[in-house]
Amino acid sequence: MATKEISYPGLLISIEGIDGSGKSSLMDFLVKELAARDINLLRTKESGGTEFGKQLHRIVQYRTEALDAKAEFCVFAADRAQHFTQVVIPGLEQGLLVISDRMADSSIAYQGYGRQLDVSMIRQVNRWVMQGVTPDLTLLIDLDTSMAIARLQDRPGNKTVFDREKIEFFESVRLGFLTELKNREHYVIDGSQSRDAVAKDALQAVVKFIKKTGWSHVA
Ligand SMILES: Nc1ncnc2c1ncn2[C@@H]1O[C@H](COP(=O)(O)OP(=O)(O)O)[C@@H](O)[C@H]1O
Ligand SMILES: [Mg+2]
Repeated sequence: MATKEISYPGLLISIEGIDGSGKSSLMDFLVKELAARDINLLRTKESGGTEFGKQLHRIVQYRTEALDAKAEFCVFAADRAQHFTQVVIPGLEQGLLVISDRMADSSIAYQGYGRQLDVSMIRQVNRWVMQGVTPDLTLLIDLDTSMAIARLQDRPGNKTVFDREKIEFFESVRLGFLTELKNREHYVIDGSQSRDAVAKDALQAVVKFIKKTGWSHVA
């Protein structure tokens, strides 16, 4: 599982969606619920899933000067390369359920659809830095862009460069996720539901998927 080319004993799940769609809130819930079911899991994220990645995350998310879109993508790709070598692949080798807040589809959606970079180039670099591994399952929280923006305005903390993007940008990003995921194992969650409903829906989808794969979580 967890790749088309090499088989690892672990399982890889990514959670995707536009800013403000509820990914981090859902991660908190899923990690707790899955751990309570004795599933050995590894919670991680992109960008910033490694120490090196945290530095890249700060540089790119809180920049104050304009940045070339290709440069932006390369930073996320560098974060991803380090993340796979240091965290994701070792976790999969250990037979863990690796669950990541964002992954490669975010680059397709944000830098490809949002910033209009060549999507096939992004796919190719993603494949390279991910060493041929693809998520076994991607949960996409789909949410109306104006609702997501309203939530971001209320969310405490410093604003990132993406938090300040216009609605049109998020429309493209949202479409990017929905389009890219059509050809992969994925589950779309209606993010406009209550926190509880989103959480229940996602947990059910994950549990059903784990059963379907026959994956044994006993490491
Ligand atoms: N289902 C929901 N309904 C209403 N507000 C939500 C819901 N899920 C998350 N939020 C709130 O919306 C904001 C964005 O959620 P967050 O989990 O940080 O999104 P993301 O990680 O996708 O950017 C947070 O303030 C969070 O508390
Ligand atoms: Mg988040």
